[in-house]
Amino acid sequence: MPKNVTIKKKIKPFDKVIKVPGDKSLSIRWALLASQAIGKSKAFNLLRSEDVLNTLKGLRKLGVKIKIYKSYCEIDGVGINGFKYKKNLTIDAGNSGTFGRLILALLIKSPYKIKLIGDKSLSRRDFSRVIDPLKEFGANFYPNNKSTLPFYIQGTNFIRPIKYFEKKGSAQIKSCIMLASLNSPGATKIIAKKSRNHTEILYKFLKLPIKVISKKELDLIEINGEKKIYPFNYNIPSDISSSAFFIVLTLLSKNSYLVIKDVNINSSRTGCIDILNKMGANIIFKNKKKYKGEKTADIHIRSRNSFKPINCPTKYNTSAIDEFLIIFLVAAKAKGISYFKNLEELNQKESPRLKLGSKILNMIGIKTKLTNSSITIYGNPNLKLTKSFEIKNYFKDHRVMALSTIAALTLGGKRWKIHNSDSINTSFPTFFKILKDLGAKIN
Ligand code: S3P
Repeated sequence: MPKNVTIKKKIKPFDKVIKVPGDKSLSIRWALLASQAIGKSKAFNLLRSEDVLNTLKGLRKLGVKIKIYKSYCEIDGVGINGFKYKKNLTIDAGNSGTFGRLILALLIKSPYKIKLIGDKSLSRRDFSRVIDPLKEFGANFYPNNKSTLPFYIQGTNFIRPIKYFEKKGSAQIKSCIMLASLNSPGATKIIAKKSRNHTEILYKFLKLPIKVISKKELDLIEINGEKKIYPFNYNIPSDISSSAFFIVLTLLSKNSYLVIKDVNINSSRTGCIDILNKMGANIIFKNKKKYKGEKTADIHIRSRNSFKPINCPTKYNTSAIDEFLIIFLVAAKAKGISYFKNLEELNQKESPRLKLGSKILNMIGIKTKLTNSSITIYGNPNLKLTKSFEIKNYFKDHRVMALSTIAALTLGGKRWKIHNSDSINTSFPTFFKILKDLGAKIN
């Protein structure tokens, strides 16, 4: 695929059924947990994106045997704390915050120093959020007080369970502590602001000793560590975050209808659907099923001619965290002013997304008011674009790239030139292929 794309035409009306690839959070979690099982696990519909391939590459460096076949991936797990590797190992997390943060949890007993590195975008992101709790377990990090990559981790044999209050609503922090607890004797207790709960669901499915008490805004999680994990096969449901781009593509296109098959609709991930429906969309789940504790459904979407603005309730912030950029595009077309608050975490993603989202909206003539944690969007339902636009210098953030592509295909304009379009490969390598199958003209 070329590194830049040019779009000169809106997409024509479509009526199609599509399938998007496997969920990224579940793909990475399956690989990490399968590596800790004793024996062979298989995953079907595993997302084959750079973030997941970097996860597999990292696990291979730690001595885990992995085979990738056409229809499935097989991991021969080494057991908890069973990694085998030589001194001076470097693990490259690439662009993946999830892999970079979660793998550290499985290294807290490592006898040697291991270096963790990442790409330019990951190297500007905060790791103190996982270093701090892992230090409490007993792990060591060098250099002292460095909160960004690269750094070294060295484990200890004297791991102790911890009590931790996770206040950011970050599933990565919560899951990191949950994985580390497997290496620790005794009970680790987490009070966690609600966030995606795939790790909890997998622990229950794997019959690991976990207790979860769900309160209104917090979850109380207790895990008793040092148990065995048995190998497990998993058919990864499709990714709702990837689906969100196609949902908004359909909403903002003329006379179109789309069905997205077998998507994971875990309620800790469906904030975007709730928000878009409150804005006047009519997104429907059909053919609902349960799969190993996760919920799946086919998502049905029809184009809409008008959208209501929203004063977005902050209770949706964590369940829509990866979808805000694309939601902002709908707010740009809404009849009135939309407000989104307490979103400082958005600037901690692959790029400072709150800032870049606002910049792109301004570029297409939408007024915004921006703070470090909030954005006000002055929607314009009659938005007509006539100029050319160029999207570059965005930290190669795949979601900024996909947002720009959907904006170009639905809002028009003379010509959109989007640089570094291969950034999509971190999470959604078939993005352009599916768009072309729907009839999009992209060069
Ligand atoms: C993820 C959690 C979220 C999300 C990321 C994937 C996960 O990050 O933004 O894309 O798989 O746990 P935070 O936990 O940092 O909010």
